[in-house]
Amino acid sequence: MELKLNHVLESQQFKVPRIMELFERTQAMKKIVARGGTLDYQNKILASLFYAPSTRTRFSFESAMYRLGGKVLSTEHAREFSSEIKDENLEDTIRIIGNYCDAIVLRHHEAGGAARAARNSLVPIINAGDGTGGQHPTQALLDLYTIHNECQTIDGLSVAFIGALDNGRTARSLAYLLSKFDRVKLHFIAPDELQMKPDILEHLDENGISYELSNSTKGLASKVDVLYITRLDRERLISKHVDLEQYNVGASLLKKLRKDAVILHPLPRSVEISSEVDMDSRAAYFRQAQNGLYVRMALLTMLFDENN
Ligand code: CP
Repeated sequence: MELKLNHVLESQQFKVPRIMELFERTQAMKKIVARGGTLDYQNKILASLFYAPSTRTRFSFESAMYRLGGKVLSTEHAREFSSEIKDENLEDTIRIIGNYCDAIVLRHHEAGGAARAARNSLVPIINAGDGTGGQHPTQALLDLYTIHNECQTIDGLSVAFIGALDNGRTARSLAYLLSKFDRVKLHFIAPDELQMKPDILEHLDENGISYELSNSTKGLASKVDVLYITRLDRERLISKHVDLEQYNVGASLLKKLRKDAVILHPLPRSVEISSEVDMDSRAAYFRQAQNGLYVRMALLTMLFDENN
């Protein structure tokens, strides 16, 4: 039996039946949005507490709450516009805000910030991305939903992650989620200095997931079903003489990619995907961002229904 959904802190907490339930609810949310929303959650309040910048996560959570009929309390500059500026610690802030709302969505600048918050919270905490090299579980859930929607399956897929994988919380969270499915094959493509960290690789080994590490995209394009592109920390590689162009997606890579491949990016992007790719039907990153609204609506309904 699945445990009650108390907090959303890391993607490995989700088992496959729970993920499938979320996807079913997500389908229902699409229909609800198409008809203008619902008032079913009009007595619910979400506190949106962001200590670090965000466009997609904060706006989609807040939009999700309004589409469900609920209300939002928000601060997007919590390091300056909350009492942290007066040295209040996260624990006290969370204890206080929990009195005023039914759930808190939190982006914190330190890895482990969401877990610290959850230990002190009266209401469910949703990790909206914590620190460098932490996790971003709701992004991974929407990424996985998009893969499922675009490919009609997850089992048996070959997924390549490209970019700064060591600190990439979205890539880390998605790798954990993909490890729950059968016969998936993961490719981690990054300069050696930015390669996926051992904690994720050990988890994949323990779960019998096949993966390859490489610092080159050569020969990759024809092998993969999904390309998951992330930002490359160029400033960390400036003195390393690494050919960064090979990690970019442009017209030449598109030519080699399978016709039914899917290109994802959690966004925001920099130069790693050129704008000419946007018009290609395989470019799914804007659909992916749109799915963020539906998946976050579905997740909020699960939390509210189970914590009534
Ligand atoms: N993908 C993502 O987390 O985007 P934001 O930083 O804009 O929320």
